[in-house]
Amino acid sequence: MPGSIIDQETLAPAAPAEPVLAPPFAPRLRVAPPPGETTLARRADRHALYESAVQNPPADVGFMQRTFRQHRGRPPRILREDFCGTAAMCAAWVKAHQRNRAWGIDLDERTLNWGIRRHLLPLGPPAARVTLIRQDVLAPVDFKSDVIAAFNFSYFAFKDRDTLRRYFSAARAALVRDGILYLDLFGGPESMDLREEQTELEGFTYVWDQAALNPITHEITCHIHFDFPDGSRLAHAFSYRWRLWQIPEVEDLLREAGFRRSMVYWEGTERKTGEGNGVYRPSRKGDNAPAFVCYLLGLK
Ligand SMILES: C[S@@+](CC[C@H](N)C(=O)[O-])C[C@H]1O[C@@H](n2cnc3c(N)ncnc32)[C@H](O)[C@@H]1O
Repeated sequence: MPGSIIDQETLAPAAPAEPVLAPPFAPRLRVAPPPGETTLARRADRHALYESAVQNPPADVGFMQRTFRQHRGRPPRILREDFCGTAAMCAAWVKAHQRNRAWGIDLDERTLNWGIRRHLLPLGPPAARVTLIRQDVLAPVDFKSDVIAAFNFSYFAFKDRDTLRRYFSAARAALVRDGILYLDLFGGPESMDLREEQTELEGFTYVWDQAALNPITHEITCHIHFDFPDGSRLAHAFSYRWRLWQIPEVEDLLREAGFRRSMVYWEGTERKTGEGNGVYRPSRKGDNAPAFVCYLLGLK
């Protein structure tokens, strides 16, 4: 992920304090702070914002523990979190059971160090059950895991069939005999629109920006920005250049990589609102939702 970029607008010379036009005619006005004063965006920690906006490690850990037990009749104990970033899932995993152990793999040393400070040191003795490795997830490892998780679509970084199959084969080889690979995937017609989606959260707005899509290669460029109540923006806090893979392509590659079976867990719908209800069940028939996130499992 690229480093944070300070929004040029927040560095602009001081603008009038009040908009001269009243809503609904007012243009969006961002007021630069007087020199010497800082903005909320400049003080923000992009990793902390990212985690509260897009991650829910206890929910993911609960999903994997429940489904693994259903498929394998035993609890999973060893997690490998690929593309682990701040290793928030590793921390949630070892907290969930005293015999759980976790390995996190990521290329970015600064992000790993942030995770050690934020998530692992505060764990105390259970931190000894976590190992973080700075390396490419395509590289071989000398240990096996019950579960490998690659979440928040990180494997979309592999843009051609050969490389994604190579990743799935490496993951399969690093699983125990009855291990399971867990992935997630986003899709639906809205995933192909160029649009910014804003979500109001406690103290900031999370902005998911689908900035470019090439329909020929299905390469997609997305950014994450964070907006603050003082009008400042942490722009391009994270940027991704991915391939927008579709479910059948990923299932085909899982099988080509040797997984005995692949499964899709599809989210149920809240009757009253028509929104997702957060409950994921195995399914071979999804509703044509404008936008969805689903889990995919590769069973060894
Ligand atoms: C979208 S973040 C995922 C963070 C976190 N796992 C989550 O679920 O939100 C992607 C992470 O993948 C890492 N990464 C990208 N390519 C990688 C590779 N080939 N091997 C290991 N890590 C990689 C980046 O450094 C970054 O921390």
